Amino acid sequence: MIEEAALSLEHSQTRKSDAQREHEQTCARVASRFGERWLRIYAWRKLRSDPIFPAAFELLANSTQPLVDVGCGVGLLAFYLRERNFRPPISGFDCDRRKIERASAAAKGRYCDLDFREQDVCDPIGPRGNVVLFDLLHYLSPNEQSRLLERLAAQLAPGGLLMIRDCPRERGARFWLTQLAERFAQVTTWNVKGPLHFPTREQIFATFAPEKFAGTLRPLWGRTPFNNHLFVFRRHAAEAVLARAGHSDNL
Ligand SMILES: C[S@@+](CC[C@H](N)C(=O)[O-])C[C@H]1O[C@@H](n2cnc3c(N)ncnc32)[C@H](O)[C@@H]1O
Repeated sequence: MIEEAALSLEHSQTRKSDAQREHEQTCARVASRFGERWLRIYAWRKLRSDPIFPAAFELLANSTQPLVDVGCGVGLLAFYLRERNFRPPISGFDCDRRKIERASAAAKGRYCDLDFREQDVCDPIGPRGNVVLFDLLHYLSPNEQSRLLERLAAQLAPGGLLMIRDCPRERGARFWLTQLAERFAQVTTWNVKGPLHFPTREQIFATFAPEKFAGTLRPLWGRTPFNNHLFVFRRHAAEAVLARAGHSDNL
């Protein structure tokens, strides 16, 4: 009995270290795609230290729907997913031309079905599919945030996923440290300048009525001192919506 438990523990540790090795090799491959040394170092550090990339992979790995990356930056998520054999088309949108140019250059001749476009995400977004918004919302005003979420939620297919990674506004050291770090990053890096509007959890959930979406929220700060959380909303299948409507009619 004890031997079996030890063997199963060893087996699960081996599986875990295989997954970790695959993740690290993926991070190194993605980083090597960029032309500039500083960007290779940034990409490698960001991919290795931020738990959002493997978390997104876990959630999307079995989906065949296209992916829309809203506020895609230099395309790290798209490259990470491709390197882990995620096949569906990916469209990335960002208003920063410098980032879109770098993402497009890194993708050229290496990956299929990746499309990076310079666009303000407050304007309508054409492609449909699963949607991610990682570290984007707080750059938009509260009205822009709710309009964007409403538009994206309305476009989501039955069974489709919308993931938001952001830092909800709330009391506590983690929130204040995130805000401080973001302000510092605005001064010292190429992040968008302007006021920051961190939404509350309630503001994010407000767009996703439980009759239409299953929503979950979990902390996703890894080893950082920040208040990053992952919100995941999945649109119910059409039958589930009808069943719920029927159920509430009968109440
Ligand atoms: C902190 S970066 C996150 C990049 C990427 N999602 C990631 O996790 O690596 C936020 C991105 O949102 C973009 N952004 C901010 N406001 C935007 C807007 N109104 N339209 C399009 N992109 C926007 C910025 O240019 C920036 O690339």
